[in-house]
Amino acid sequence: MAQKFYVTTPIYYVNDVPHIGHAYTTVAADTLARWRRLHGDDVVFLTGTDEHGLKVQQAAEKNGVSPQEWADKTSLRFAETWKMLDITNTDFIRTTEPRHRVAVQEFLQRVYDNGFIELDSYEGLYCVPCEAYYVEDDLNNGNCPDHGIPVERVKEENYFFRLSRFEQRLLDYYAEHPEAVAPESRRNEVLGFIKQGLRDFSMSRTSITWGIPLPWDENHVTYVWFDALFNYCTAVGFSADPERFAEVWPADYHLIGKDILRFHAVFWPAMLMAAGLEPPKHVFAHGFLMVGGERMSKTRLNQIAPADLVETFGSDGFRYHFLVDQHFGPDGDFSFEQMLTRYNADLANNFGNLASRVLNMAVSYCDSATPSSRENGPLAAASVHALERLETAMESLNFSSGFTAVWDFIGATNAYIEDRQPWALSKAGDAEATAAVIGDCLEALRIIAILSSPVLPRASSELWSRLGLPGSPTEARLPTDVVWGSASTVGNSLVKGAALFPRLDVPS
Ligand code: MSP
Repeated sequence: MAQKFYVTTPIYYVNDVPHIGHAYTTVAADTLARWRRLHGDDVVFLTGTDEHGLKVQQAAEKNGVSPQEWADKTSLRFAETWKMLDITNTDFIRTTEPRHRVAVQEFLQRVYDNGFIELDSYEGLYCVPCEAYYVEDDLNNGNCPDHGIPVERVKEENYFFRLSRFEQRLLDYYAEHPEAVAPESRRNEVLGFIKQGLRDFSMSRTSITWGIPLPWDENHVTYVWFDALFNYCTAVGFSADPERFAEVWPADYHLIGKDILRFHAVFWPAMLMAAGLEPPKHVFAHGFLMVGGERMSKTRLNQIAPADLVETFGSDGFRYHFLVDQHFGPDGDFSFEQMLTRYNADLANNFGNLASRVLNMAVSYCDSATPSSRENGPLAAASVHALERLETAMESLNFSSGFTAVWDFIGATNAYIEDRQPWALSKAGDAEATAAVIGDCLEALRIIAILSSPVLPRASSELWSRLGLPGSPTEARLPTDVVWGSASTVGNSLVKGAALFPRLDVPS
């Protein structure tokens, strides 16, 4: 039976519309999902929207609609954006769905029955955009350290989650599972935070109504983070389908931005432990995409909508930039000029030109049919090397270095053509040598189509059909199908086609 692989993105708040920061995480998760499918895994890939809480309630009020109407409208915008970017999520969860309410209530009851939720009163400094309490020491001149706006003093009688009781268990867990939080700098941050001592946190609210009521006290709604994190369990059948839940949980990867690391690597595993459930296997927190050196935000008016870039670069061009041009881990600055330059260099020139050159020559010199490639031809070793580098890089979610290895292979194939000059061989009447070189290049292209398919689903599949190959590169399996000469391609009918990535003019 195929191995299960469960990957998630954060569920995005519906107080905001999708921007390239959200798309960054989602495209990475999609590439990982596609990558695992190439290995034959049965992939469960979840994304969705976080629809409860004060922020959403306030956004709806400001727009004069009910929170549900607001959530319906904005959630759809996320779903549409993911479709535009060829995201292959297998489920899309909305926290206002009945399945989620049922699952969260069952989970809460369990944690309450286990004695980890208790009534207490609390006075604290609250930041609404963070939906979190702070202590004086955390603040910058009285302002939230993250948003730079004043926090509010709030006093509530609330239910508390006894996070403090999980300090040692979390430390033990992370000592036994050093791979559970990555990159390493983030793991150190988490350990440092736990070692400072964990405070219980308030997990219910009476001041708002837009949330899931606590099953044992309906005057309280569940704190938005407590509700939100559980989406990862709801979607794989926590309440509705225990058999499936047992099969799919724990998640293999939660991909998140560094802003929500503590929630995912401290609160969340403790909440799961409190219910007798296993923590996720890996939490990977990437950095922030900045625009002009600043974090994107509604107030700074510097958010970029994915659609604006897709219009120019196409969905593949968008995916390539955020995965290969940007490093998944540290912060990165978005620059249109850099995106354009790399698009022209890597996609239009390297990838696109290789495909059209080889196909054009094959059509002209080989009667539009694939000649046989040489067993262990000169490019075979380079293809093995590319796969090895890609496999190693993907273990640590280093998309940039992994796919650069594929582009190096593309470069090597282009260089091979320059070196052998098949046009000269053909002119000299050496049909055998011409066919051998073209056969090698076509085999390289077949392998390139498979290896680039997680990042460039459209171009790779178009290339696949121009190569006269049946099905789609997504049906290939690694490593067998990228073994040099593993497919019977001789005689396949080849099609030239238009440029896969038309060159874009650089604005003067
Ligand atoms: N709803 C919570 C998450 C709950 S998960 C159980 C939330 N939502 S959010 O809409 O604010 O989205 C947060 C995520 O979007 C970040 O963690 C990150 O993955 C992504 N990004 C949002 N802005 C970003 C950048 N500027 N750069 C990169 N990713 C960013 O927090």
